[in-house]
Amino acid sequence: MKKLLVTGGAGFIGANFVHYWLNKYQEDKVIVLDALTYAGNMENLHLVQGNDNFTFIKGDICDQALVESLMLEHSIDTIVHFAAESHVDRSITGPDAFIETNILGTYSLLKAAKKCWLDVESGSVEHRFHHVSTDEVYGTLSADDPAFSEETAYAPNSPYSASKAASDHLVRAYHHTYGLNVTTSNCSNNYGPYHFPEKLIPLVITNILHNKELPIYGDGMQIRDWLYVEDHAYGIDLVLNKGRVGENYNIGGNNEWANINIVKEVCKLVESEFAKAPELAARFPEAVAAINANTESLITYVKDRPGHDRRYAIDATKTRDELGYEPQESFETGIAKTVTWYLNNESWWKAVMDGSYQDWVEKQYK
Ligand code: NAD
Ligand code: DAU
Repeated sequence: MKKLLVTGGAGFIGANFVHYWLNKYQEDKVIVLDALTYAGNMENLHLVQGNDNFTFIKGDICDQALVESLMLEHSIDTIVHFAAESHVDRSITGPDAFIETNILGTYSLLKAAKKCWLDVESGSVEHRFHHVSTDEVYGTLSADDPAFSEETAYAPNSPYSASKAASDHLVRAYHHTYGLNVTTSNCSNNYGPYHFPEKLIPLVITNILHNKELPIYGDGMQIRDWLYVEDHAYGIDLVLNKGRVGENYNIGGNNEWANINIVKEVCKLVESEFAKAPELAARFPEAVAAINANTESLITYVKDRPGHDRRYAIDATKTRDELGYEPQESFETGIAKTVTWYLNNESWWKAVMDGSYQDWVEKQYK
C-alpha cells in the first residue's frame, strides 16, 4: 500500500491522476497539497471528496516546513509532483510566479524529501520522488527532425519551459548527489476533462459556445503531440511501478496535429453534437448563429506568441520498451469524450472562467 503526496492535485492533470489512482489502487492513501491558484479547483476533485483514503491540504509547495510535517504525519513514501505554473502565455507576461513555483517550489520539495527520507530516516527502496515534466524542455523541432528522445539535449525557449528545465536538473542533481530516489517523466500536450479554458482545446470549445473568435497564433501550422490525460496518468503509474530510479521517461500520444487542423476538428465535432442533440441549441443559444453559418467562420488569425515553438513530437520508445507503455485512448474517442464533457459541464467551465470558484475557495479556506 502506497502513501502518496500529490502536489498540484487540484489542477487539470493532477486531478485526473488522483481519480485514476484512487480508482485503481483502492487501498492507497492520497494526500493532495495544492495552493489553489487560479488553475486549481476543489471542484476538480469532487468525485473523490468523501473517500476515506483522500485528504486535501491547501498549501504552497514552497513551504518546506509544511511539506515536512505532512510527510511525517502521513508517512509519505511517494511524492508525485505536478504543482506548477503551466501556461506558456502567462510565463511570457509574468515569469516571476514560474520561477517561484516551478524552480524554488521544486527545490523546497526536494529539500523536504531529502530531510524526511534520507536524514531523519536512512532511505528505503519504497521511497520515490516522481517529477512531472514536459516535452517543452527539449525546445523546438523543424518538420523533418526526429522526435524528442530522452537523449535530446535540453533547449528550453520560454520562461515556462526554462523553469521546468531548471526543476528537472535539480531533481536529477538530488539523485546523483544525495541518492534521492527520483524519476522524471516528460510528457506532450494533454487534453481532456478539467482542462482550464485558457489552453487551446478547451478555449476553442468554450469560445464556440459563446460565439467568440477562435484565436490562431501566427500561421496556425505549429505542431503539438496530443495525449488524452488519463493516458498520462497511466504512464506515470508505469514509471512509479516499473521505472528505474534516476531515469527520465518520455510519454507521448504518437498524435501530431497542426493547431489549425485541431481547431477545425473541434469545430466539426461541436457541430455534429448540435446536429445530434437539438436541445443544445436551446442551452447554448449564442453558439447557434456561428454553427448555422459554419463554425469555422469564428477562426481568427492573431499575432503570434513570442518565441513560439514550431513543433513538438515525442519518441516514447524507451517508455514502451522498458515499461510496456502505449496510449490506451485513440484521438478520435478522446477528443469526442472531451467535447461531450465540456457540453455536459457548463457550470464547471463558467465558474472557473468567471472566478466564482476562487471566491468560494477564499471563503472556505481563509
Ligand atoms: P495546471 O495549471 O492545470 O495545475 C497546476 C496545479 O498546481 C493547480 O492546481 C495549482 O493550484 C497548483 N499550484 C500552482 N502553484 C502551486 C504552489 N506554489 N504550491 C502548490 N500548488 C500549486 O497544470 P497542469 O496542466 O495540470 O500541469 C501539471 C503538471 O504537468 C505541470 O508540472 C506541468 O508542467 C506538467 N505538464 C503539463 C502538460 C499539459 O499539457 N498540461 C504536459 C506535460 C507536462
Ligand atoms: O507540450 C506540453 C505543454 O503543453 C505543457 O508543458 C504546458 O503546460 C501546456 O500548457 C501545453 O503548452 P502549449 O503552449 O503547447 O499549450 P497551449 O494550449 O497554450 O497551446 C497549444 C498550441 O496552440 C500552441 O502552439 C499555441 C497555440 N494557441 C494557443 C492558444 C491558447 C493558439 O494558436 N491560440 C490560442 O488561443
